[in-house]
Amino acid sequence: MELPAVLRKAREKRFALTPQEIAALLALDADADLAALFRSAYAVKCAHSGKNVSLRGLIEMGNVCAKNCLYCGIRRDNAKVERFSIAGDQVVRMAEWAYRERYGSVVIQSGEVESDEHTEFVAAIVRKIAAFSGGELSVTLSLGEQRGEVYRYWREAGARRYLLRIETSSPELYRSLHPSDHSFRRRLECLRALRELGYQVGSGVMSGLPGQSVGQLANDLLFFRDLDIDMIGMGPFVPHPDTPLGAGTPLSAELRSRQLRIGLKMIAVARLYLHDVNIAATTVLQALAPDGRERGLLAGANVLMPNITDAEYREKYRLYPDKPCIDENAGQCRGCLSLRVAGIGEAILWGQSGDSPHYLRRCGNRADIA
Ligand code: 5AD
Ligand code: SF4
Ligand code: FES
Repeated sequence: MELPAVLRKAREKRFALTPQEIAALLALDADADLAALFRSAYAVKCAHSGKNVSLRGLIEMGNVCAKNCLYCGIRRDNAKVERFSIAGDQVVRMAEWAYRERYGSVVIQSGEVESDEHTEFVAAIVRKIAAFSGGELSVTLSLGEQRGEVYRYWREAGARRYLLRIETSSPELYRSLHPSDHSFRRRLECLRALRELGYQVGSGVMSGLPGQSVGQLANDLLFFRDLDIDMIGMGPFVPHPDTPLGAGTPLSAELRSRQLRIGLKMIAVARLYLHDVNIAATTVLQALAPDGRERGLLAGANVLMPNITDAEYREKYRLYPDKPCIDENAGQCRGCLSLRVAGIGEAILWGQSGDSPHYLRRCGNRADIA
């Protein structure tokens, strides 16, 4: 592969890379090659959204989960986790804080719960946020797999965006990461249902998984294209000691740097291939290196999701070890991230909902359906 020529082609036009070229870019390892890759991705990001970062305030609403994903620290069978569910009014208060502080959007995330009571609980929160902000604070839900009618109900209540990671586009790899009653097919059907309901849809995968190849990661990026995904939140796998997949794999310095590297490469190649989607520099990058999220931005990401959950709950929402910001409160994270963003010469888009340019384009810039 002639790297400069491949990078030039990728910068000029989206979808220009072949699957083989995507895999080859993901396999790059020399520092100079990686620097060139990240620079190219950053240039594409700047062409689409300038030197700007969109913020989403992340509310970790509860860690009760019906699922048992083999990698996740809050999986059902992890008895060491003390479970919590934040009261609806308190969730709304966190969103009010975000609105006052000029976050354009909030993400409400929790473990997976499917019940009529939970459906109503979430809808009530979404309605209250829409009411106090006059619809200005855009709400993203990240509450796992649900029936289509539940997604519809939440959409009607005012939710505009939904995040549901596919984790891997390989059904075989998916099977090796989940118990047999977790269904790849249902995950896919949920993503399609969300799209049909008019949500702005985000998905994502983990990179650096045991047994994962660059070919599979390349397919993940093709999958985002095929599903016409608007937003991407993805990050490297970090072994959690109290999970089947993480037990016995200590997080050595060498492993940290390897996982960070593959995480950054996925961001960069996603940007070079897809061009106009929103891509988050996810918190997990900062679990691997103190400046991990800034490095994600410089590799082509354009979204940050500062945690705005009250400090008392953060410790208990630990999907992976070394989660940052456990002892900080929302105000501290706001200040800290502002400085970090300024430190790399970027500006935060305060008070803007930060719709995915891809979404606006696919909807013909129709504000009425956003
Ligand atoms: N390492 C990295 N990411 C993880 N997630 C869950 N457990 C881990 C882990 N050990 C991610 C999954 C999930 C999201 C909420 O967090 O991709 O969808
Ligand atoms: Fe539950 Fe999500 Fe963790 Fe799976 S990854 S156990 S669905 S919180
Ligand atoms: Fe939370 Fe830095 S982002 S303390």
